Amino acid sequence: MPKTFFITTAIYYTNSSPHVGHAYEMVLADVIARYHRLKGENVFFLTGVDQHGQKVQQSAAKAGVPPAEFVKEVTQKWLDLSKKLEVKNDEWAETTSDRHKKVVRGILQRLFEEGQIYKDKQAGYYSVRQEQFLTDKERGPDGQFGPEWGDIEFREEENYYFKLSQYKDWLLEYLKGRADAIIPDFRQTELRNAVEKISGDLCISRPKSRLDWGIELPFDKDFVTYVWFDALTNYISFADYDPSKSNIKHQTSNFQDRWPALQIIGKDILVPAHGIYWLIMLHAIGFPDDQMPRLLVHGWWNIGGAKMSKSVGNIIDPFALADKYGAEALRYYLMSDIVTGQDADFSEERLVERYNSDLANSFGNLLNRTLTMVGKYQDNRIAFPKGEWLQNPDQRSTESYAENIITQIKAYKSHMSAAPTFPIPFILPFTLGPFVANAAIGNVLGIADQGNILVENAAPWKLAKDLEGVSKTKLNAVLYALTETLRIIAILISPVVPKAAHGIFDQVNGKMELRGKEKRFSLADAEWGRLPDGHVVGKPVPLFPRIER
Ligand code: MSP
Repeated sequence: MPKTFFITTAIYYTNSSPHVGHAYEMVLADVIARYHRLKGENVFFLTGVDQHGQKVQQSAAKAGVPPAEFVKEVTQKWLDLSKKLEVKNDEWAETTSDRHKKVVRGILQRLFEEGQIYKDKQAGYYSVRQEQFLTDKERGPDGQFGPEWGDIEFREEENYYFKLSQYKDWLLEYLKGRADAIIPDFRQTELRNAVEKISGDLCISRPKSRLDWGIELPFDKDFVTYVWFDALTNYISFADYDPSKSNIKHQTSNFQDRWPALQIIGKDILVPAHGIYWLIMLHAIGFPDDQMPRLLVHGWWNIGGAKMSKSVGNIIDPFALADKYGAEALRYYLMSDIVTGQDADFSEERLVERYNSDLANSFGNLLNRTLTMVGKYQDNRIAFPKGEWLQNPDQRSTESYAENIITQIKAYKSHMSAAPTFPIPFILPFTLGPFVANAAIGNVLGIADQGNILVENAAPWKLAKDLEGVSKTKLNAVLYALTETLRIIAILISPVVPKAAHGIFDQVNGKMELRGKEKRFSLADAEWGRLPDGHVVGKPVPLFPRIER
């Protein structure tokens, strides 16, 4: 049986409410998950919340409520967000759950018994934001700790350490041997440079006297672990990892079926959290190199060039946007107006612009004009064209209309997929980069543009005036091609705007027996010429009314 496709997002801190940057990450993972379901794969999509740690403890204290109560309330907002944005995850991670704590303790106990965790005393500068001691390596060229570390204070305390530095050579070798460990590849280069600088081991505990909102160490009740072993481990604990089995071949069948995952994270948590600590933790607990997760690293949504974040105070509320424009308008904007891996500036005007130009004009008009014409000229019934397929409306192209669309479908698939896991000895025609949802959307828009140009060039209203011979054949061919184009658009756009895709299918009368169900769409159906002769379409209903400002 084919393995399940496993995809995760980072887990979100429950010290504050979600903003558009977080919404983006959830939706990106959801779109990739939906694309894999569209391919007919079994998908396991995990997202959730990071509930422990100093920041949460501090925020709860500020709010005057116990951390558990505080966390419950904030967690609800993250759950609400996933629901609001039609994010269809299969599992929800909460790090305060017993299921998770059990795995964390099991892993820590095993590493402690193997001598990979030891106790030591440390004195030095401590970053409250990153919850870690800093060394001189973290100082900038001016000798100061950069703003990314937040408030710095001097501390002295005993703690437990994980033997991280002994794995530096392994990590370098691993990254050398696997070109797509980190996507996009410039992030892999960035990580390799950071790994070269690894020196000390990793502090993994805090004395309870200072922080008690964490998971108690199984071998010392005066300490809790937090952040690294607490949060990163969620990716395996919620996939049914059994901490008592170091050999992955003896893992639970669920885990073996799911792992390894494609993990989506923002660029700020690649180094050191995921790229260094997480990969080394997995290696240390027995994961072989071919079982390492791939990390897809996205950029940030900025406001006027600055990262959107609560501390800067420039956050955009995704709930308000979804209420104002609809969840799908927001999903569409977040997926189409940023290049996966790069940063983008958030702009509400751009959201409206893209909605009007792409959804209302390109897709909406094509739907409306096509169904109106099929209704008027063919009594809602399309006929399978006889003879040759239509020529491309773009006279410079030698491809036929259908060939052009087939080319766009191929490019779409390539943009939505991962790069091959083997070195490519030649340049493939469409490998612009993996998981570039914006480029895949560009292909769907390209298909809609072809349709709209065809309407203009073929002018069905003229053909309809003379329904004898050639004109009739041509009118049939044009209206069949347009309806088929809409059917394909709905399938391909369904991971991004699932409700709108259903709306198109409802009007085109596509797979009515699966109305409202995700199974209605299948990538295998995105093949030219599937609509049968005599197919009856429905009435046009405006799907994307223009947003007037
Ligand atoms: N809890 C940690 C991650 C632990 S993962 C085991 C954390 N949480 S977070 O809530 O601060 O961020 C969660 C994710 O949201 C990260 O991947 C981060 O990059 C992403 N984003 C936060 N702000 C963002 C933008 N402005 N734009 C895009 N993504 C952003 O880090």
